[in-house]
Amino acid sequence: MTVRKAGKMKRLETILSLIPQGSRLVDVGCDHCYIPIQAVSTGLCPEAYASDVRPGPLGRARENVRAAGLSGKITLALADGLHGAEAFDPDAVVIAGMGGELIAGIIDAAPFVRSPRVSLILQPMTSPYELRKYLFTHGFGAVRERLAAEDGHIYQVISCRYTGISPIYTEAELEVGRDHGDAELAAAHLEKYIKKYDKIIKGIAASGKDAEAQIRVRGELIEKYENQKAVRRT
Ligand SMILES: C[S@@+](CC[C@H](N)C(=O)[O-])C[C@H]1O[C@@H](n2cnc3c(N)ncnc32)[C@H](O)[C@@H]1O
Repeated sequence: MTVRKAGKMKRLETILSLIPQGSRLVDVGCDHCYIPIQAVSTGLCPEAYASDVRPGPLGRARENVRAAGLSGKITLALADGLHGAEAFDPDAVVIAGMGGELIAGIIDAAPFVRSPRVSLILQPMTSPYELRKYLFTHGFGAVRERLAAEDGHIYQVISCRYTGISPIYTEAELEVGRDHGDAELAAAHLEKYIKKYDKIIKGIAASGKDAEAQIRVRGELIEKYENQKAVRRT
């Protein structure tokens, strides 16, 4: 099965679908600023604050915001992470297209997002395990997970907010997520991770070390894969 066939929602669409209607939106690492532009121009969000740590992407964002006629509704800032964003008083924070550890670091440096009022919509490019581990040991819950397929990749998108009560995820679930709501895409996602774990286990075995923990994770991934395939057949 190709990812294209499996995929229905692309990455940016999926991120937008998890932003609560009417939110004051912050987008960290906005680059082109497509997410805030789309959110404000469609009426999903009344206003947005978009930041980037590099002047180049911010200049691109400024051009795109001006071209969309949204300069009065989207505030742009040159900033590292969420520094300066608290004054905007957001209800939703998007951090997408960065490594999972960088995303966790940005959240950790901004205590104001530890509030049940603020929804986080996160899309890690790498290290999804480390990101979930951080979130679920720091009181973030009310989790919704989605997958998005685009150009041969499957992206994981996680929405959550601070509840003080974190869900309990298994080691495999910290890696791949759970309850994605699309059995076909979930099966393709799990297949990819089973192959990844095959390689990891072979590498560990070749070095003469014990791969028991990784074998356990692969076993769980296979079980989940079989379950998703069974859902697809029903
Ligand atoms: C790959 S782009 C993703 C753009 C957009 N968020 C998306 O998902 O399509 C990553 C952007 O994050 C910015 N970035 C990286 N580290 C950052 C940080 N600590 N604070 C703010 N922006 C950051 C980069 O400059 C870059 O423009």
